[in-house]
Order: sequence, then structure tokens, then C-alpha cells
Amino acid sequence: PKRIGVLTAGGDCPGLNAVIRGVVKSAGTHGYEVVGFLKGYEGLVDPVSYIPLTNKNTTGILGQGGTILGSTNKGRFAATVGVNDRLELDPELIAGVKTTMEHLNISGLICIGGDGSLAVAQQFHEQGIPVVGVPKTIDNDLSSTAFTFGFFSAVFCATDALDRLHTTAASHERVMVLEVMGRHAGWIALYAGVAGGGDVILIPEIPWTFETVCQAVITREQRGKKFTLIVVAEGAELPSGALVTQERRGEQKQVRLGGIGNIVGAEIEKRLGKETRTVVLGHLQRGGAPTTFDRVLATQYGAHAVRLIIERKFGQMVTYWPPDMGTVSLLDAIKLSAVNPACSAVQAARALGICFGDDNKA
Ligand code: F6P
Repeated sequence: PKRIGVLTAGGDCPGLNAVIRGVVKSAGTHGYEVVGFLKGYEGLVDPVSYIPLTNKNTTGILGQGGTILGSTNKGRFAATVGVNDRLELDPELIAGVKTTMEHLNISGLICIGGDGSLAVAQQFHEQGIPVVGVPKTIDNDLSSTAFTFGFFSAVFCATDALDRLHTTAASHERVMVLEVMGRHAGWIALYAGVAGGGDVILIPEIPWTFETVCQAVITREQRGKKFTLIVVAEGAELPSGALVTQERRGEQKQVRLGGIGNIVGAEIEKRLGKETRTVVLGHLQRGGAPTTFDRVLATQYGAHAVRLIIERKFGQMVTYWPPDMGTVSLLDAIKLSAVNPACSAVQAARALGICFGDDNKA
């Protein structure tokens, strides 16, 4: 039988199962069987581990979080950067993958992953292994597609957190700081900040100062709003020279308290004498059911990836530029994207009076 392989690599993300289901159903329509490799790329090599994926064992997974195939971002395929910053995989691993693919009669492998995992897929392609990629990350930090699946589910979670923080912040007239994920990019903070009515949004792409953030809190107070919601991206940089000084074993030291959110909260409380609480949202953003949009997007990605395999368009990643699906070479796919400070979402947020911690008011 003609077969397609599929695997989920790197950190998990809402919508992985929806892609898997999309692959299985559309492959079936085209007369292909599907094999799912377990624990990311690890399942491809000794000890090879996989399960046949059928309509029966993928029933009911559309709205399930996580991945039924398991994943890993460690293991033997974890990025080893070699000469000229290029990922270099052990030739024995490559040979092992080729043997598995031949043995199982797999005509194409669908790798669902973020930039690190897609860099492995690109290596496979260079070594003659037929692969296509599907962009997965809650961070939305891949430049070649408008949206990665999982992003809006993470934004939904962060927005829900802000809604909840809103009521308690108002009741106690506090400053509430919410630290969200996003790695080096501020996408989740920006979108959740706008959707959840944040007053201040701090992202890596826009330099900010504590003075401006504190001024935003004061200005709100003067207008009768005795509470403030601050969303801070985990990758947001501290303003230079603004590290928090803390006493450690009798000495004053400049320290990181284990996350930018806590630093921001502590510093605001110190400067304004206003009760401040910090919440680090963490992996809640990665777990649980995908939103409706992510279910649709993930399904489209899965179906489109199968089409690429059937058309033998290997070395490509599926993309989404609304309303169309498209493709990009894996080589270009792994380029990262940051929030453009001049983008319409930032402009709109500024127009609403949301503060980015800089002096730009409009
Ligand atoms: O890339 C997804 C992501 O959730 C980032 O937002 C976060 O920085 C990182 O992964 C956390 O990784 P881990 O689950 O390995 O702690």
C-alpha cells in the first residue's frame, strides 16, 4: 500500500491532533495509509516506534489538546549546530531514517514542528528524504506564514486570564502583571493584550522604561481607574540599567527573580508603593483544546500537506496567507518573525491608549 508518515516534534501545541486527523482523513480519500511515528523524530530510528493511524483511532481527537503521537524536543535529533551555524545530523541517523522509510514503504513524511524541528526536516530534504513541513507553534514566530496553528488558542488562554485578572484587579485596586509565553517574540502578549483589555503591553520588539510604565499607572489613577493590567511577554527585555536590586545573603545584588513578570511587578510596587501581583501563565497556554480557528487552520494544514506529498512537492512547508493556503521552501520557512512595531495591531492598540512602555503615544 501507498503510505504517508506523520510525526509531531518539539514543544506541544493545541491543534496537533487536528492536523493528524486532517492528514489521516485526506490521505484516506486519496487512497493512502498513514503511519504515525512516536515521540517526534525519535520514532524514526532504532528502536523504530510507530502506530498505524486510521479513521477509527483518530476519531474524536479533533478538539483534543496535546498530541496522540507524543513529542520531544530533546533526544538524538535535537539541534546540533555545526559549521556556519548549520544543523548537522549524524549520518547514521539519516541512514536509519531512510531505512525506516523504505522498509515501511513511506512515500512522504509530514513533519509538524516549529523552527527547530523544521530545520531537521530541511536536513532530511537535503539528504534526499521526502518531507513536507507544517508550521506549529503557539509563539507565531515563523515569518513565512501569517499564522501558525496553536497561536490563537494560546491567545485565548491569555485573554481569559486577563478577563479574570480584570475583576480581581478592579476589586482590590491593584496592578496586575501577566507574563505570557512567546519566546523571543511578542505576538501572544500583543494579541492577548488587545483582546483582554490590557492597559500596558511590554514586548521584546519595543524598548520600554519603568518610568513610562509607572506614568501609565499614575495617569489611569488620575482618570479614576484605580487598577492597571500589564501584559508582559516572557522575551521582553529589561530596560538597560533597570535590573532589580535585591538583598541576597546580606549583599545587594542585581538579580533576575525567575522571570520578567516578577521583576516588572516588584519594581512597579517599589516605585509606586501600589499593591502589585504577578501571574506567570506558563504552560496553561500550551495545554487544552484548540480554539475553533485553530481547528480549522490545523485541518487545512493537514489536508494541504497531504496534497504536497501526493504532488511530490517535497522540501516545502505549508503556509497560510488568508484566505489561501500556499507553500514555502523549508529553507525559508525556518526564518523567524518578530512583531513589527509599525504594524496595524500595534497602531490600533496605541490609538486606544494602550501603553507599550515607550514614549510613543500614537
Ligand atoms: O515555543 C513554545 C514555548 O511554549 C515558548 O513560548 C516557551 O518559551 C517555550 O516553548 C517553553 O518550553 P518548555 O516547554 O521546554 O519549557
